[in-house]
Amino acid sequence: MIVCVCKRVNSAQIREAVERGALDLPAITRELGLGTGCGRCVEFAERMVMQELQLLQAQAEVA
Ligand code: FES
Repeated sequence: MIVCVCKRVNSAQIREAVERGALDLPAITRELGLGTGCGRCVEFAERMVMQELQLLQAQAEVA
C-alpha cells in the first residue's frame, strides 16, 4: 500500500526501515524521504511506525 504518494513510499518500505532500526518518523523521513512533499502522509505514517514498533516489541517479548 502506498503511504506517501509524493515520494512513492509504500508500507513495506516503512516496515523494512523500522526493522533496520529507524525507530521514529524523523529517521524514516531521513531514510525514505517520506513526508517531505505535501506532508499529508505524515499523520498516517507516524501511526504506522508506532504500530510497527509495538509489533517488534511484542515479537521480542515472545522470543
Ligand atoms: S504524500 Fe507524503 S509528502 Fe505528500
